[in-house]
Amino acid sequence: MKIGVLTSGGDAPGMNAAIRAVVRRGISLGLTVYGIRRGYDGLLDGDFRPMGVESVGDIIHRGGTILHTARSERFRLPEGQDLAAARLRGAGISGLVVIGGEGSFKGMIELGKRGIRAVGVPATIDNDIPFTDYSIGFDTALNTGVEAVNRLRDTATSHERVFVVETMGRESGHLALAVGVAGGAESILIPELPVNIEDVCYKLRRGLDRGKVHSIIVVAEGATSGMDVAKAIEKCMGMELRVTILGHVQRGGTPTAFDRLIASRMGAAAVDALVQDNVGVMVGISGTKTVFTPMTEVVKSKKEIDLELYNMAEDLAR
Ligand code: F6P
Repeated sequence: MKIGVLTSGGDAPGMNAAIRAVVRRGISLGLTVYGIRRGYDGLLDGDFRPMGVESVGDIIHRGGTILHTARSERFRLPEGQDLAAARLRGAGISGLVVIGGEGSFKGMIELGKRGIRAVGVPATIDNDIPFTDYSIGFDTALNTGVEAVNRLRDTATSHERVFVVETMGRESGHLALAVGVAGGAESILIPELPVNIEDVCYKLRRGLDRGKVHSIIVVAEGATSGMDVAKAIEKCMGMELRVTILGHVQRGGTPTAFDRLIASRMGAAAVDALVQDNVGVMVGISGTKTVFTPMTEVVKSKKEIDLELYNMAEDLAR
């Protein structure tokens, strides 16, 4: 049996560990594993080749993806999806592991309608995919965000300043919330809840009154822009702020041990699922277990924000 593996959408630290797991578990089970380069774009171009055990050596600790990735416009069209399915059939590849986020999984469903057996592995720093506690890359991006907050705290304290830190996360606030809680931010602004600048200013004043010399406001890019938040706070507080936009810095770097661990587990589980004909599903992590959810359920659901965690953060940021 021949299977293919591709990474698609935004890269995420730990994708390499997942590729390694797919290749090596596949070979252990007697399969031939093809690496498909540049996501669905590479699939359309027939850009794939078999991967041996050694081809994934020395990558478990590397960020990014050795297979490269893309957000393919051509694959969005039905003709593109027809061609992609034909390419796989032409190469005798009968199963596919898609490592990526929600957009990549929608593509996987389209391939499924064309008879391609596929399994998804969630990988995005945004951690916004339902039916899994974690997606690959989130933990690394969280740690990068917290490290940035730690550094900003030093300079914020020295200058007695307020800093706004804007995190990635697209339309979701999971990453920002985690960075804010773990970084001890005074306020956390996320798209799932109304942005209330008056409340942010109230908390800043309360902090100043008790002698606090610095403050950190974490803003999810999907809530509003860090620049706009800073301007609004400057207006109500009459002080100068500084803004740091973490941007793509949050998407790079060596994956944490946790990301490598879940990537290894989910990559291997995806191959097992293919072999057992458990297809059209996404592998996930629930507690300490790997779980499988039909992909059609995954793409129509939304991962809710943890309001208990948000409210707790409010209490702790005094
Ligand atoms: O989905 C991952 C992510 O990094 C988001 O957090 C961010 O909004 C987006 O991708 C950025 O995408 P691009 O790399 O295409 O600018």
